[in-house]
Amino acid sequence: MQIHTDYPLLQHNTFGIEAKCAHFVEYNNEDELREALKLIRKDKDTPWLHIGGGSNLLFTRDYPGTILHSGILGKEVMEESKDSLLLRVGAAEDWDSLVEWCVSRGYHGLENLSLIPGEAGASAVQNIGAYGVEVESLIEKVETLHVETGAARIFQHDECEYGYRTSIFKQAYKGKFIVTHVQYRLSKAFHPQTSYGALKNLSENRPTPPTATEVRNEVIRIRREKLPDPAEIGSAGSFFMNPVISEAQFRLLQSQHPDIPNYPAKGGIKVPAGWLIEQCGWKGKQLGQAGVHPRQALVLVNLGHATGAEIQLLSQEIQKDVATRFNINLHPEVLFL
Ligand code: EPU
Repeated sequence: MQIHTDYPLLQHNTFGIEAKCAHFVEYNNEDELREALKLIRKDKDTPWLHIGGGSNLLFTRDYPGTILHSGILGKEVMEESKDSLLLRVGAAEDWDSLVEWCVSRGYHGLENLSLIPGEAGASAVQNIGAYGVEVESLIEKVETLHVETGAARIFQHDECEYGYRTSIFKQAYKGKFIVTHVQYRLSKAFHPQTSYGALKNLSENRPTPPTATEVRNEVIRIRREKLPDPAEIGSAGSFFMNPVISEAQFRLLQSQHPDIPNYPAKGGIKVPAGWLIEQCGWKGKQLGQAGVHPRQALVLVNLGHATGAEIQLLSQEIQKDVATRFNINLHPEVLFL
């Protein structure tokens, strides 16, 4: 286990914010994690936080506590049948390398989630999703350690209380369990999911369905076209969640804006935050070194040396404008620290 003091976080947040933390602990297995948890429990007054790839964080100041990061790697087929297999993956495995590895072996289901930044552990906490697939549909079990006792506990899918970009690990059990491994049920036959608007052209006007590699490549192409490359421009992907509004509010909005994109959702109608932000004129605009991506208004970017506070200010201005114009409150998907 490595313990660092006064540690720079630049390489641990995709926004590229130059913050530091008081302590940074990287562990490589469950026993080391138990040791790290003992240290955390001993020092009750110091805050702590567990991070994955740092693709969903905004450091608005130096973090005064301890940051934990998993180094647990490994991919292991646990069971295999004629149709499917159960793949156990260490929390620190890089997400897109995992997707690529699965596609190359004919383990199917993750293709639409190609190129999402981050690590496998966070996929199970955040319920990552893109192009019509949410990862929860592939998760069978989540292996964790209990923060208070260090005891292992395996959550079955139905215990994880998955919702849009959320799970029990972000809600009732926030800070109570740390994900060590995720078990995905993957399929040996490929069933393309191409109903999402941007992927429809993959299945239309062709005699045979697309292959897994074709779907992965198309998802990568679309993401590269719309979203900034985290290696070049700092961002955290979508900054806000897409809001769900009531049918009545939606009908009113649609009467004023007949072209408003919309999707049915639990509890109402989901409208894209990117569209609302664009309507408010923010697309491509900047405030100091913080900007709104010119090709996807839902993505806030670090144009150079933005501070977290600058990005926070921009996000608040956007929230104010969307609330005034549409009477809709946007909620960040990103965690402010
Ligand atoms: N739109 C605009 N202007 C914009 C951006 C979008 O009008 O600036 C419109 C688009 O024309 C389209 C609709 O909004 O009609 C939806 O846009 P898009 O397909 O780009 O998806 P999104 O709803 O903005 C969500 C996820 C993304 C995911 C895509 C594709 C959230 C918060 N975001 O974005 O996830 O890649 O769908 O499935 O749900 C992420 O979470 O970091 C992320 C990138």
